[in-house]
Amino acid sequence: MARNKLLATTMVLVLTTVLLMAGAEPPASERSALQAFVSGTAHERALGWNASVPACAWTGVTCDKATNSTVVISLRSNRLSGSIPDDLFSLPRLRSLFLQGNLLTGALPAEIARLSSSLEHLALSHNNLSGPVPFALNSLTKLRSLMLDGNSFSGSLPSITIRRLEVFNVSDNNLNGSIPSSLARFPPESFAGNLHLCGAPLLDRPCHPFFPPSPPPPAAAPPPPPGSPDDESNKRKKLSGAAVVAIAVGRWRGCSARAGAPRPLLGPPPPAPEIR
Ligand SMILES: *[C@@H]1O[C@H](CO)[C@@H](O)[C@H](O)[C@H]1NC(C)=O
Ligand SMILES: *[C@@H]1O[C@H](CO)[C@@H](O)[C@H](O)[C@H]1NC(C)=O
Ligand SMILES: *[C@@H]1O[C@H](CO)[C@@H](O)[C@H](O)[C@H]1NC(C)=O
Ligand SMILES: *[C@@H]1O[C@H](CO)[C@@H](O)[C@H](O)[C@H]1NC(C)=O
Ligand SMILES: *[C@@H]1O[C@H](CO)[C@@H](O)[C@H](O)[C@H]1NC(C)=O
Repeated sequence: MARNKLLATTMVLVLTTVLLMAGAEPPASERSALQAFVSGTAHERALGWNASVPACAWTGVTCDKATNSTVVISLRSNRLSGSIPDDLFSLPRLRSLFLQGNLLTGALPAEIARLSSSLEHLALSHNNLSGPVPFALNSLTKLRSLMLDGNSFSGSLPSITIRRLEVFNVSDNNLNGSIPSSLARFPPESFAGNLHLCGAPLLDRPCHPFFPPSPPPPAAAPPPPPGSPDDESNKRKKLSGAAVVAIAVGRWRGCSARAGAPRPLLGPPPPAPEIR
């Protein structure tokens, strides 16, 4: 009996706290930013973001106990469409922005950097966002998770060097170029589904340089094997035909084993040695 009473009292206390919290209003500037966001963004489900309800009780809005500031916006799969509204960047204490599974289009604005002193989680997975992954994300020094998978982001990945970042996902986009070394610590599944992304940790996709590394070898001469003396090509002319075939086969094997060799041979070596 006493136990039930205690339980009931606890529940009443918890409920009261929740109701008090929900009854709170964030600072006026935040409230108008939230209102601008929801009225500027088409969405399917009625969110009930209206004046008769305190903003901290709005669907998907969580406020901080001490300050009443907006700290979490979580509107997953609400068929939100249009671009990411700048209004959200006027929420100076926003820690988590969860907008995955919507129909958002357009770019991820560099103004996201305005959340640099607060944002820890940014999830925009499975929308229709495009354009580059902005370098300005580096300003979000508190960021711990960045989920951009399942969009149409293109171009190359900027070097993101946020120390606290633990979760990172850009899979299923249209990214190209080499993965910056600062991001190579994340697993291959963080980068899968980008046809033109290369380099570690995608071990099956080494980057093929379009130009030989500097200094470039003379255009006409074949690249000498590493470590060989310069006069090797002269010596080779004096070798017997069989020896040249052996060398050619050896070099062909070497070439095909090394992805990204400057002049890969597509077929087997010709039966007779090439006379230069
Ligand atoms: C937060 O909201 C509650 C409930 O409306 C209010 O009592 C409290 O004074 C507010 N706190 C701040 C810091 O505005
Ligand atoms: C305001 O939102 C509440 C739900 O949160 C809803 O019941 C009410 O009808 C809304 N009022 C208006 C005027 O839209
Ligand atoms: C995504 O956006 C592109 C144009 O940027 C459009 O062609 C495509 O239909 C959109 N896809 C969805 C699922 O909305
Ligand atoms: C990478 O993609 C961007 C934009 O889609 C394009 O402009 C650029 O040429 C591409 N770079 C490479 C190396 O494919
Ligand atoms: C990244 O997201 C994709 C789905 O969009 C998922 O398959 C993959 O496992 C995720 N990668 C990591 C490292 O969580």
